[in-house]
Amino acid sequence: MLARLDEQRPIERRPVDLLAIAADAVHGARVVAPGRAIALEILDGPGIPEVIGDDIRLRQVLGNLVTNAVTHTPADTSVTVRVGTVGDDAVLEVVDNGQGLSEIDRERVFERFYRTDSSRSRSAGTGGGSGLGLSIVAALVAAHNGIVEVDSILGEGSTFRVRLPRLRPE
Ligand SMILES: Nc1ncnc2c1ncn2[C@@H]1O[C@H](COP(=O)(O)OP(=O)(O)OP(=O)(O)O)[C@@H](O)[C@H]1O
Ligand SMILES: [Mg+2]
Repeated sequence: MLARLDEQRPIERRPVDLLAIAADAVHGARVVAPGRAIALEILDGPGIPEVIGDDIRLRQVLGNLVTNAVTHTPADTSVTVRVGTVGDDAVLEVVDNGQGLSEIDRERVFERFYRTDSSRSRSAGTGGGSGLGLSIVAALVAAHNGIVEVDSILGEGSTFRVRLPRLRPE
């Protein structure tokens, strides 16, 4: 997956402001899902959430996570994008109050083509994706020397968290 993405266009290495990316992702999600409660929160850590990387690919990362949070959860639940710093990392989090993921699903969601049972059963309607989005997220985050992880409690919601090395750690 990563090799194929790289063949299309190399990953750029320029300063990228994650706050701008987060604000744009929230704005975009509010446009496509006008009925949803979609919030932006700032994590109050040191410095600013600036990283070295590829603006378009990092937008793709957050876009995939926000799209998932909107499409794979009930319409009456909220979505929050958090951005900021934690120690020497810049952090992006997408938090939802949806149905959450089981332990097995948490282990497997980043695999190519993996979809949970509830997602597969909706495949004819909206929310039926290809199961590739999170594998692309994982490949792009790895290409930025970062990590992506998911915390989730079944029935309560999920938090997808991307940590990337900050451009100017103290
Ligand atoms: N926020 C979420 N809450 C509950 N389930 C989720 C969430 N995000 C992802 N999932 C589950 O993980 C699966 C894999 O997600 P992924 O983004 O890789 O694929 P997709 O959204 O189904 O399709 P694609 O992103 O390729 O259009 C989804 O099908 C869904 O079952
Ligand atoms: Mg997806």
